[in-house]
Amino acid sequence: MKKNKLVIANWKMKLGLSESVKLALFYKRIKIKNSELVVCPSMPYIKQVAEVLPKTILLGSQDCFWENSGAFTGEVSPLQLKELGCSYVILGHSERRTYLGETNEMVHKKTKAVLEANMVPVICVGETFEERQKGNQDYTLIQQVTQSLEGLELKKEHSLVVAYEPVWVIGTGQAIEPKQAELAHQIIWQTLFDIFGSSAEEKFRVIYGGSVDENNVADFLSLQDTSGVLIGGASLKPDQFSAIIQKL
Ligand code: PGA
Repeated sequence: MKKNKLVIANWKMKLGLSESVKLALFYKRIKIKNSELVVCPSMPYIKQVAEVLPKTILLGSQDCFWENSGAFTGEVSPLQLKELGCSYVILGHSERRTYLGETNEMVHKKTKAVLEANMVPVICVGETFEERQKGNQDYTLIQQVTQSLEGLELKKEHSLVVAYEPVWVIGTGQAIEPKQAELAHQIIWQTLFDIFGSSAEEKFRVIYGGSVDENNVADFLSLQDTSGVLIGGASLKPDQFSAIIQKL
């Protein structure tokens, strides 16, 4: 397990330009220890946010397309994002799966394109409430991880993140029990080892996301198989976010 914790702030589509710059100015003042902080603003404002943030804070996108150029109206390519300064790309977030029909097959193509651009894909997986009720959560995770990643050729320089985000707790303010996250992370790791063998350990980090706040972040970060957290709502609130950062 890598020593530095990874913290990804997902601002979703929640801020306008001036609010994004204001929040970036706040992030600029945060003192981060032993952690890697990645900020994922709304795509149109990545450049303006990049201009404010110090180089020690990395930039990410909330999505990308799987081709680098061509007649793909409305899409944004990994290389275009790289040009804006992004080094991470969130893929397959449950909100995209729910509202835009994003499939594991699409996530697979996007992951390949992001790796080819030498950026870090953050592949989101997680079960719905119904899947958990039926006891199918492990099956869902295995299927999502396998279909999104199997067949990818990983090179020495590649680094990937899998974010376990139980769909039913995202944005609710009520995270799952750390023990439940730990079990899910073990399933994810086992699937990664099945696909990539022992090299999975050096290539991948597995993180938790879903209603992370200042009261629970330390519990998630102390889990054995966890390398960090993906934070939505609390990353938009300066007080809450600095309280979280202090717990790292
Ligand atoms: P949340 O969002 O922290 O608001 O639950 C997490 C996410 O959607 O990635």
